[in-house]
Amino acid sequence: MCGVIGYVGGGAGPSFFLNALRRLEYRGYDSAGIAMLTPDGVAIERAEGKLSQLEKKLDKLPASAKVGIGHTRWATHGKPTENNAHPHRSGPIVLLHNGIIENYRQLKEDLTARGYKFLSETDTEVAAHLLHDEYLRQKSGSPEERLRSALRSAVRQLKGAFAFGIICTDTPETLFAAKLGSPLVIGQADGESYMASGITALVEHTRQFLVVEDHEIVMLKPDGISVESFEGKPVSRPFSKVEWSVSMMEKGGYRHFMLKEIHEHPIAIAQTLNGRIERDSGRINLADLGVAKLPLGNLQRVQIVACGTSYYAALLSKYFIENHAKIPVEVDLASEYRYRTSTVNAQTLVIAVSQSGETADTLQAVKSARANGAQTLAVVNVPGSTIAHNCHAESLTKAGPEIGVASTKAFAAQVTALYLLGLALAQERQTLGQAGLSMLMDELVKIPSLVEKALGLSESIEKLANRYQQNTSLLFIGRGPQWPVALEGSLKLKELSYIHAEAYAAGELKHGPIALIDENMTVVCLAPRDSYYEKTVSNIEEIKARGGRILAVGQENDAHLLDLADDFIGIPECSETIQPFMTTVPLHLLAYWIAVRKGTDVDQPRNLAKSVTVE
Ligand code: G6P
Repeated sequence: MCGVIGYVGGGAGPSFFLNALRRLEYRGYDSAGIAMLTPDGVAIERAEGKLSQLEKKLDKLPASAKVGIGHTRWATHGKPTENNAHPHRSGPIVLLHNGIIENYRQLKEDLTARGYKFLSETDTEVAAHLLHDEYLRQKSGSPEERLRSALRSAVRQLKGAFAFGIICTDTPETLFAAKLGSPLVIGQADGESYMASGITALVEHTRQFLVVEDHEIVMLKPDGISVESFEGKPVSRPFSKVEWSVSMMEKGGYRHFMLKEIHEHPIAIAQTLNGRIERDSGRINLADLGVAKLPLGNLQRVQIVACGTSYYAALLSKYFIENHAKIPVEVDLASEYRYRTSTVNAQTLVIAVSQSGETADTLQAVKSARANGAQTLAVVNVPGSTIAHNCHAESLTKAGPEIGVASTKAFAAQVTALYLLGLALAQERQTLGQAGLSMLMDELVKIPSLVEKALGLSESIEKLANRYQQNTSLLFIGRGPQWPVALEGSLKLKELSYIHAEAYAAGELKHGPIALIDENMTVVCLAPRDSYYEKTVSNIEEIKARGGRILAVGQENDAHLLDLADDFIGIPECSETIQPFMTTVPLHLLAYWIAVRKGTDVDQPRNLAKSVTVE
C-alpha cells in the first residue's frame, strides 16, 4: 500500500511531486522517490525514511520536467532502504508500483537467466525488467506503440496486484499506467494529465477524475488520455467531478491532523445526515442515502464486513439496526470473512464499511459475497473508491478527507450512516411506527451540537493525560453499544501511544481479565446512564474492590460514578441513542493527548498505513 503519482504536461518542478506525495504519505512513509524526464534524460532521486529525507535531495533534480513520477513506500518485499525505494529502472524504462507481484520469484529466475541484474530486493524491479524485456521484443511501430504493446504483454504475465506508473526515455511526452487490484485515478486539467493512488493527491490541481478499473492500461498525454484493456480493446468512460477542496486537507491551525479531525466529528456527522432525513414527511430519503435500488423490504439478514476502526463502527451498528429494523445483523472482520464458507443469498445484504474504500480484505470479502449472490452496499468515505465500484450501491459517509492515519471523524460518520441505514431498513420493513421513526430522526439531528459540547472536554483530558502517559497497560470496558466504543478507544490508544490496551465487554471481565486487576491497572469504564448502567456500575465496584484504578466516562451529573472513580470524565446529558457518539469523543481525545505527552508521531504512527491495500 504505497502511494503513486504521475504527471505529464507543460512542466512541473520537484516541489510539485513532493507536495502530491505529501498528500499520499498516509499510504506509507518508509521511503520515497521521484523520477523526472527531460530532453537530457531521466533524473531519479530516492531516500530512505519519510518524505522530509527526500526533500533534502530535491535540488539534485531538474527545475522542471514535462513528465515525471513519484512514490511513497510501505515496504512489503525488501527492507525500507534507499536501494529498495521506487522508482526502479531497467534500460530506458523507469517504473514505480503499488501492490504485490506474487509470481516475482519465477519471473526473477527467468529474467536473471536472460542476463538482467537485480539491484534491489523488491518484487517491483521484476516488473521493470520484464517490461524492458518485452519492449526489446517489439520490432515494429513507434516507441510509444511498442511500449504499449510491451506493457499489454507484461501485465498479462503478472500475478498479484499492481498500479504502475511508467516513463520511458524513448517516449519523452507520455506517461503510462496500468492497474489490477490496486487503486488508481486519473486527473485531467488544462494541458496537464495526472495519475495517483487517490484523489487527495490531485485535488489542488483538478476536480475532474476518472477511476481506472482492473485490467486497464492508460496512456496519458498533456491534452488527453486513452484507456484500453490488457487485451488492447479501447475503453471509454466519462470523467466525474469531486467536491473536495484543498482547505479540507490542511491542518487549519491545529497542531496535528488528528486533533483537527477529532474536532470535525460534528461536521462529519452533520454532513452525513444532510439531505437524508426528510423531517416534513418523517421519512428517510433512500435515494440520498444511496440505497433506493436495494430491495430493503425483502431482506432476511444483514452481514457487515470491515477492518480496524470501521469494524468497530459496524459492531456498534449491530445494536441499533437489530433493535430498530428487527433483522439479524452479523458483523465480521473482512480478513476472516473472505476465507469462510459463504452462506449468503439474494435476501442477504452485505455491507462493506471502509473509510478509504480500498482496504484489500474488505474489497475481497464484498466481492466474494457479490459473486455468491448477495446484495452489496459500500459505506465508504472516499468517492469513487474501489469498494464502491464493486458494490451494487454506495452510501457515502461524507466526513471529507481524513489525513491522520488513525481514523477518528470517519468513525463518527460511519456510525451515523449505519444508523440512517438502520432507520431506512426499519422504514421499509415497517418495524417502527411513524412516531418511533420521527422520534429517532429528531434525536439524530441533535447529535452534532451535543458532540460539539463534548469537544469542550479537550482541555481537561489534556491534563488527565499527564497521569496516564506512564502506564504500560490499560483495560477498557463497556456494555451494549459502549462495548464497541471501548474497543475503538483501546485501539486508538495502542496505535497512537504504543501503550498496551485491551477492551472487554464489561460482563466478560469476570471470565478472565479480572485476574489482571491490581493497583497498577487502570480500567477505563464507559458508564453513561443507559439500559446497562446498573450492571456496568457493579463491574466498576468489582474492579475497585480489587484495588484497580478507575477512569470513568459517564454523564456529567452522575455523582455516584464521580464518587466511585479515581478520575472522571463527564459527558453532557443526552439520550441513549446519542451516548455512543458522545463517549467516543473523550476516548479519541485521551489517546491523542497521551500520544502528544509521550511524543509519538501522532499523524503517522510507526508501522501503520491509512489505506491497507495488501492482504
Ligand atoms: C488501517 C487504518 C485504520 C483503519 C483500517 C481500515 O488499519 O490505519 O485507521 O480503520 O485500516 O481502513 P478502512 O479504510 O477500510 O476503513
